[in-house]
Amino acid sequence: MIRITDKQELIHYLNCTGEEEEKLFQYAAQLRKQYVGNKVYLRGLIEFSNICRKNCLYCGIRQENSALSRYELSDQEVLTAAQYAWQGKYGSIVIQSGERTDRAFVLRIETLVKKIKQLTNNGLGITLSLGEQSAETYRRWLDAGAHRYLLRIETSNESLYKKIHPNDSLHVFSTRLKCLEYLQKCGYKTGSGVMIGLPFQTTEDLADDLLFLKNIHIDMVGMGPYLEHESTPLYAYRQSLLPLSERLRLGIHMVACLRILMPHINIAATTALQAIDPLGREKAIAAGANVMMPNITPINNRRNYKLYQNKPCIEESTEAALRQVAENLTACQCSIAWNEWGDPLKADKSNNSTPPEEAMI
Ligand code: 5AD
Ligand code: SF4
Repeated sequence: MIRITDKQELIHYLNCTGEEEEKLFQYAAQLRKQYVGNKVYLRGLIEFSNICRKNCLYCGIRQENSALSRYELSDQEVLTAAQYAWQGKYGSIVIQSGERTDRAFVLRIETLVKKIKQLTNNGLGITLSLGEQSAETYRRWLDAGAHRYLLRIETSNESLYKKIHPNDSLHVFSTRLKCLEYLQKCGYKTGSGVMIGLPFQTTEDLADDLLFLKNIHIDMVGMGPYLEHESTPLYAYRQSLLPLSERLRLGIHMVACLRILMPHINIAATTALQAIDPLGREKAIAAGANVMMPNITPINNRRNYKLYQNKPCIEESTEAALRQVAENLTACQCSIAWNEWGDPLKADKSNNSTPPEEAMI
């Protein structure tokens, strides 16, 4: 058993090595099994559009990057991908996109969500990851049938947030917090997360990130290493970054520590981990993660949805990729949960998912 009772202990475990690291991963995997089982839930990821109104300083599809062509999937393409996920027994999908808030976009998403629900007889779970929106928009999409939403805080340190975003009214830390609050109040299962290994970021920041996620009682977390992209302003700081291997290691430690702090939640093994190490996601599963998001975007569009360089699975066919994942998972005694929504558990006593005493901070 591993005790994490204060921030110093958390920092210690984020940095630990050798035997202690092994024990950390083992304990996190044991908690995963105990609280959420050894099943890995799938979400087929549909990258709906790379058109974005924002200019986050780290992101390859930021509006001011003109070195890529912009696309938006047609209704038919989205429905075909959803059908593919449904027939392939993925259980649920994530629709992700660059951020837009115009009426046409809001309506388009609303209609698509309704159509997917109809098409699958309400069988496919729908998660949205479409950025900051008004409370009304969140409500409309929920009413249309989406029931989970992902909105990363990126970093819980406001001054670091300011360093990695332009200083204007579109990129405001308090707006991000307010949106997370809207989502939770509205009734979504709400996910958030951070980037790991950003320029100017310290291990203490990362410990604070985990405590932040716990404090806001988040249901789901996706966090992954920051990966530089040459057509972004943050690329200028690439010399100051941790080596990739270190960012991967920290990413996996973050997963393990979060599983100990919040044993009942859904934690994703993110694609950015896979970008550093072909087995990065499997390593995260072995350290406590329980969700994977295979890319099911039409292959031709994937190369234009590059948030960072060396994004994996741009060429690979989805069936082949998934077969390989299923095979790799047996190494950590896990298997894919076919045809399940895989909603996060509620942290209450009725389902025995209250975090153990020793993990309370
Ligand atoms: N490296 C890693 N993650 C990134 N994201 C955006 N750009 C990068 C990058 N360069 C992540 C952000 C965003 C999510 C959709 O992708 O955390 O919320
Ligand atoms: Fe747009 Fe999201 Fe990229 Fe920011 S991180 S530029 S909001 S796609």
